Amino acid sequence: MNVHGQHYRTIWLKEDDPAVVQIIDQRQLPFHFVVEDLTTVEAVAAAIQEMHVRGAGLIGATAGYGMMLAAFHAPRTSLLAFRAAVEADALQLKATRPTAVNLAWAVDRQLAAMRAAGDDIEAQIEAAVATARTIADEDADFCRRIGEHGVALIEEIARRKEGAPVNVLTHCNAGWLAFVDYGTATAPIYTAHDRGINVHVWVDETRPRNQGARLTAWELGQHGVPHTVIVDNAGGHLMQHDLVDLVIVGSDRTTYTGDVANKIGTYLKALAAHDNGVPFYVALPSSTIDWEMRDGLAEIPIEERDATEVRIMDGRSDDGIREILIMPESSRAANYAFDVTPARLVTGLITERGVCAASEASVLALYPEKRRV
Ligand code: MRU
Repeated sequence: MNVHGQHYRTIWLKEDDPAVVQIIDQRQLPFHFVVEDLTTVEAVAAAIQEMHVRGAGLIGATAGYGMMLAAFHAPRTSLLAFRAAVEADALQLKATRPTAVNLAWAVDRQLAAMRAAGDDIEAQIEAAVATARTIADEDADFCRRIGEHGVALIEEIARRKEGAPVNVLTHCNAGWLAFVDYGTATAPIYTAHDRGINVHVWVDETRPRNQGARLTAWELGQHGVPHTVIVDNAGGHLMQHDLVDLVIVGSDRTTYTGDVANKIGTYLKALAAHDNGVPFYVALPSSTIDWEMRDGLAEIPIEERDATEVRIMDGRSDDGIREILIMPESSRAANYAFDVTPARLVTGLITERGVCAASEASVLALYPEKRRV
């Protein structure tokens, strides 16, 4: 993605010091573009938990680099001490956020790569460096391919509408900022826009942290894609009036049977889409598929974050960034961060291998190596 004309990924190693991981502090967007240095596992864990970085793919890539730092800083006095330190760091990273499966997936992939490197500590460190890079590169490549597969859906609608704008509704930020590059839900949109298709995006603001209003709108603006920010509850009304051609959202964890966990409010959009005959697609890389979970509603852990995020909003005023209380001081607030949309409400999944139905049979047809027998 380009920011002010310069290409950036969302995470990279510092050019003159590869022991420093650099990220964009997303809490500051869209008002300030701040690059932050991470040099310890503790800093990586805090960056994930406090959402300097967020979004399933980027959480996974950050955890991958976090494990690289774990290997750098683990004691080299003995193999036992090295492994014990790395495994303790792995647990620390895994505990930061529960819903996005990419986190545990990346940490476990790092542990497996280090184990496979044998008993030599230096070889294990090299494996951790290589694996961190691979996870990030793979994430970017998968997202690019999601764009190529998903654009066909937009092209078909554009043909039908004979040049009139294709209106896509999206929720939260499953864009470039949620991954290493391109994004998932936004990747087909960028591809369509780059091919000259007249595409317009309805951007749900996505309370309480406003990832749509703050991040998706900023991203689309940087790429020159026409868009309009709407309040979270507007989607149903727009669909009733034929103002939405297609919904594309991302996912933090999708069961191999097609149930989709995504940012709170996604389920309500899926219900409205179903009621109005609007196609509802979920774009995700295979690293977001939980191959162990069958029943999303019963099994996917839903993160509950601090109620402060509901009670207090921040934004820019003439005096700089300000925080304000938006409800009675004495009222309680609850902050469920994700919900689960059952497979029956999902028209299809857009993956790096192609588009499939949200069903066990279709998912396993795309990923036959995941079959258990
Ligand atoms: O809480 P976040 O910002 O980490 O939530 C993740 C999301 O942005 C969304 O749920 C998104 O649609 C899927 S993440 C690729």
